[in-house]
Amino acid sequence: MNPIPYPAAPTVSLIEGDGIGPEISAATRRVVEAAGGRIAWEPVLAGMTAAEQLNDPLPPATLESIKKNQLALKGPLGTPIGGGFRSVNVTLRQTFDLYANVRPALTIPGVPSRFAGVDIVMVRENTEDLYAGVEHYVDPRRNAAESICIITRFGSERVITYAFEYARRHGRKKVTLVHKANILKMTNGLFLDVGREVAQRYPEIVFDDLIVDATAMKLVIAPERFDVIVTMNLFGDILSDLTAGLIGGLGVAPAANIGDGGCAIFEAVHGTAPDIAGQGIANPTGLMLSAVMLLEHVGQDEAAARMRRGIHTALANPETRTGDLGGKTNTAGYADAIVRAITS
Ligand SMILES: NC(=O)c1ccc[n+]([C@@H]2O[C@H](COP(=O)([O-])OP(=O)(O)OC[C@H]3O[C@@H](n4cnc5c(N)ncnc54)[C@H](O)[C@@H]3O)[C@@H](O)[C@H]2O)c1
Repeated sequence: MNPIPYPAAPTVSLIEGDGIGPEISAATRRVVEAAGGRIAWEPVLAGMTAAEQLNDPLPPATLESIKKNQLALKGPLGTPIGGGFRSVNVTLRQTFDLYANVRPALTIPGVPSRFAGVDIVMVRENTEDLYAGVEHYVDPRRNAAESICIITRFGSERVITYAFEYARRHGRKKVTLVHKANILKMTNGLFLDVGREVAQRYPEIVFDDLIVDATAMKLVIAPERFDVIVTMNLFGDILSDLTAGLIGGLGVAPAANIGDGGCAIFEAVHGTAPDIAGQGIANPTGLMLSAVMLLEHVGQDEAAARMRRGIHTALANPETRTGDLGGKTNTAGYADAIVRAITS
């Protein structure tokens, strides 16, 4: 699934993002460097910042940079609610056909959460479903509207195959396909049918399926029941915030958007946190763990492992955690602690 032999120091488009984005990006760059990650960053603009500065939320230069580098690390981007420009996140995923959104939820020792031993990887289909962007008002007075749920055999097969290949590559035992095929018999039924077909090619991996509402309940009662989950766009969007909640919240959740040929955009799951932006207190762990996934993706496994260990060490100590995790330090103090852990 990752056939590109990356250069020793690949160039990566860096979208710092809006709100807390610049603060968490600066901390992340520092820690990547301390861990020995060899990345040549190419800063580019997107989101509200780009809309304000260049009158375009997704400028051509940003698209060109990602097209050339095939790799990006992205901070959070603000999206106007209701009207305004279309989500830049959704546009980027569709433009580069990044069909698999991989969101690991792994318990981090010391981080306050309700469960121990959570180790779930959510693979969310990223280009179809209700997020395909096909919606309209059905009457001129805007009293009724409809969104079209699009599911294709092609889109289903490639993301479900990705989930099984991921499971095989990482020695995982089970893939659970989540759907609502009892009600949405055609769209979700197709996704489930394709899942059953693909599963036959992976006899060593247990396959089961679960209805989305039951999944939500089981995730909060017995998260250890789950290993790899593969699901459609909307359910994956919602359930991956739930799995982030199982390990301590959005502040510590990373994600990777992956397409064929190695093209990938790595991003924190959380948003721009406008309520704390500019105060230097944001938790950069989500973006840092996304950078760890980036280092693994480009074959820099040792730097990735050093960085992950440093993050875990800093998170294990309440003195060196950020306030959202009940800690006593700020963004820069937390990055200092990780750098100390890596270099000592
Ligand atoms: N991937 C993305 O770019 C992305 C994802 C979600 C939301 N958004 C956008 O972000 C904006 C704000 O959205 P929202 O308020 O619903 O969600 P949010 O994730 O920005 O914030 C929700 C709450 O979590 C806190 N929080 C989030 N990240 C944090 C961090 N790293 N450290 C400490 N606290 C953190 C915030 O302070 C806030 O109280 C919206 O414009 C939305 O569209 C972007």
